[in-house]
Amino acid sequence: MNELSAAILREAAVSFAREAGAVVLAGYGMEHVPEHKGRTDLVTEYDRRSEERLLQRIAEAFPGHAVMAEESGAHAGAGGADVRWILDPLDGTTNFAHNYPFFAVSVGVEVGGVMTAGAVYDPVRDEMFAAARGEGATLGGRPIRVSGCARLEDALLVTGFPYDVREYPHRHLPLFGEFLVRAQGVRRDGSAALNLCYLAMGRFDGFWEGNLSPWDVAAGSLIVREAGGRITDYAGREFRLDGRQVCAAGPELHPRLLEVLARHPDAHVRAAL
Ligand code: IPD
Ligand code: CA
Ligand code: CA
Repeated sequence: MNELSAAILREAAVSFAREAGAVVLAGYGMEHVPEHKGRTDLVTEYDRRSEERLLQRIAEAFPGHAVMAEESGAHAGAGGADVRWILDPLDGTTNFAHNYPFFAVSVGVEVGGVMTAGAVYDPVRDEMFAAARGEGATLGGRPIRVSGCARLEDALLVTGFPYDVREYPHRHLPLFGEFLVRAQGVRRDGSAALNLCYLAMGRFDGFWEGNLSPWDVAAGSLIVREAGGRITDYAGREFRLDGRQVCAAGPELHPRLLEVLARHPDAHVRAAL
């Protein structure tokens, strides 16, 4: 990867995510008038401000790198660098708009189509999760690891309901119901990026969600892997950024989640990106 190592990209992602987190935090606690992208899909001016800051910093530090950003879409690269930044400027917008303190900035970096570095920053708790490919995952610079939980009945799981849950409740609710009665507990707290990081450090034991977008999971998927976790689609196939589905857990629990998912084929339907 010539002189642009995974560690350098991780440090840049950390610095950009921290700065964008401060932009978001400045709006926390204020009254928000969010716009609707879809029936339940919100965007606030802080999503946009955070994204502008990230785009500006990337352009200054790495001119020519491509970007895929949630609010402004694809920005083509130039000069032959095969690097793409994947940005969620505010993951957990519904929480943010309601002043519920659980949201994050997510910055992932792909090199040659491979997730290579990433950072997820929770500005409320000042928690910075980060990873570089092959170099492990960290919280605040200290190594983190997934839990060793092996049994569903001992597991604290987390999930999210996709924005199409009102149109297709039958796809999502029976699966949720089975996990709810079989696991020790199930949480739904509205930031897929932070959910993956909490899994990576053992606060959660397992995570599943359908119809996610690449920016929700880019950095978090690398952080889970580098923390020793398994991440696949609902059928146990290799995780893809554009694959919409995530089933993630420690190596012993992951097969137990797949067994439950296999009993709910309706939940495997993917909405178009
Ligand atoms: C959402 C959050 C939420 C998940 C949704 C995502 P946003 O991202 O990650 O946890 O359930 O599917 O779209 O819209 O707040 O960036
Ligand atoms: Ca998101
Ligand atoms: Ca977002």
